[in-house]
Amino acid sequence: MKILMVCLGNICRSPLAEGILRDKVRKCELDIVVDSAGTNRYHIGEAPDPRSIACAEAHGIDISDLRARQFKKADFERFDRIYVMDRSNMSDILALAKNQEERDKVEMILNVNRPNSDMDVPDPYYGGDEGFEHVYKLLDSACEHLLQEWEKESHKA
Ligand code: 4NP
Repeated sequence: MKILMVCLGNICRSPLAEGILRDKVRKCELDIVVDSAGTNRYHIGEAPDPRSIACAEAHGIDISDLRARQFKKADFERFDRIYVMDRSNMSDILALAKNQEERDKVEMILNVNRPNSDMDVPDPYYGGDEGFEHVYKLLDSACEHLLQEWEKESHKA
């Protein structure tokens, strides 16, 4: 299974989501690949925002070696599920999909544990450190939910 986390810049929310999910996958020894990307190109090649790095580090997760990249159409083929952080990411990604199969891979990350809520993970870029901790908590509970579903499936198999 291959999972892609997507936000706007790929420096605040999606690298945090990637780090959180990778950490859980590693601890459970599941065979799941996690990556992240941004819809825009402003921060390509950059490390995550220092506030995202610090927030992850406070929770024992190192995301300092991640580098921002832009989402590309080939990602629809490379990944099984694409989780977007907000409705704006959703429309940007859906606009690049070429068929229903690709559109069906895209889901709002918070719908994982809050079905049909269509809640955004708020963009913390222009706020303070507390915004990052709030984002961390939202993403951690969504990722925990994903993990529990996969574990249930792996016990069934
Ligand atoms: P992200 O946050 O989408 O969570 O990575 C942002 C990063 C950069 C900008 C906006 C949001 N920006 O405008 O440069």
